[in-house]
Amino acid sequence: MIDMMTGFGNHFATEAVAGALPVGRNSPQKPPFGLYAEQLSGTAFTAPRHENRRSWLYRLRPSASHAAYRCYEGGAEFAPGTVDEPLAPNRLRWSPRAMPVAPTDLIDGMTTIVANCDPGTMKGVAVHIYTATADMTTRAFASADGELLFVPQRGRIELLTELGRMMVAPGEIALVPRGVRFRALLPDGAASGYVAENHGALLRLPELGPIGSNGLANARDFETPTAWYEDRDEPFELIQKSLGRLWTVELDHSPLDVVAWHGNLAPWKYDLARFNTIGTVSFDHPDPSIFTVLTSPSETAGRANCDFVIFPPRWMVAEDTFRPPWFHRNIMSEAMGLIHGAYDAKAEGFEPGGLSLHNRMSAHGPDLDSWRAASGAELKPHKIDGTMAFMVESCWPFRPTTTALASAQPDYDGAWGDFPKAKVP
Ligand code: FE2
Repeated sequence: MIDMMTGFGNHFATEAVAGALPVGRNSPQKPPFGLYAEQLSGTAFTAPRHENRRSWLYRLRPSASHAAYRCYEGGAEFAPGTVDEPLAPNRLRWSPRAMPVAPTDLIDGMTTIVANCDPGTMKGVAVHIYTATADMTTRAFASADGELLFVPQRGRIELLTELGRMMVAPGEIALVPRGVRFRALLPDGAASGYVAENHGALLRLPELGPIGSNGLANARDFETPTAWYEDRDEPFELIQKSLGRLWTVELDHSPLDVVAWHGNLAPWKYDLARFNTIGTVSFDHPDPSIFTVLTSPSETAGRANCDFVIFPPRWMVAEDTFRPPWFHRNIMSEAMGLIHGAYDAKAEGFEPGGLSLHNRMSAHGPDLDSWRAASGAELKPHKIDGTMAFMVESCWPFRPTTTALASAQPDYDGAWGDFPKAKVP
């Protein structure tokens, strides 16, 4: 049983050893037990109070205690750079990746599929897929490039972070803040899933507007682990992602040695089944922004650096309405994954573990079979069930990696190939 604290962005205070957390001040002259006090900031010091996020950590050794980083030779598919030659405005789709044969941990098993914006600009988002078969036992990882939103698709992952440990199963999501060190265990022996690495403003709950004070993802359903640490004096590798590259350094101890912490910058997990889904009870369906779980705003109001959106089980009751997603060309760019089940706009080809990319102004929508079925369906109340798709939507067009571009499905355009022509009298 892992203790969890509830609420999104709360100010938490937690200690793994009684008396480890200083009271009434952040940096006393002599912290309890000789622990080192360290501040971790997720926003600029002078960010508005309601956006300001930081935590104070009390640890066995300062995190500054390490030698120089060297280039990491593994992880060849993780952040290898995106296609920078002319990119055709094609719709792209990928089948699920095969699981590795050799033992491969979460970091070496990470493959970047699409990304936008240089992480040094503090804008944009990357979407990675992991396929892992081995625990990270003496290895930890941190990304200076962005916060990591984990979306498990198959197999649980246990994330052991500096601020606590959490078990995350398919159907749940979890966030590790920028810079926070962690290692991942695979309690089911193998795991695969997606990671959205948000380079921009911290993900937050969207405004609710006329929906009111409840609905969509409710703040109380986010769970943050209590303090936990490991006291291991043995060789440990720390890999850091920085400016789109991986770097490594040897430590003589586990960096997961935070005995107590307080603050409002912390890992969390969330069960997508708790999302309060809202939709039409008359006709048409609202824009898919109604399904936004979390948003990272850009500097332009209402235009997201990235949104995390889900398409969960829900009742369809609209009258005189084409119920699946309509045909559309959007200014926003959409990277879409499938956790389980089937997506209501694609009859085939979009499999759990796969990914599709519809960049700005790419024409897309239901495929022929889905369109035909929905156009002829008797419009009884119908529950879309047993499915969970998600979208990472961004105002910045995505670029696939060179490897991803080479491994895309060759015939995706065929999904829209044979629509009959309308007959105008
Ligand atoms: Fe779309």
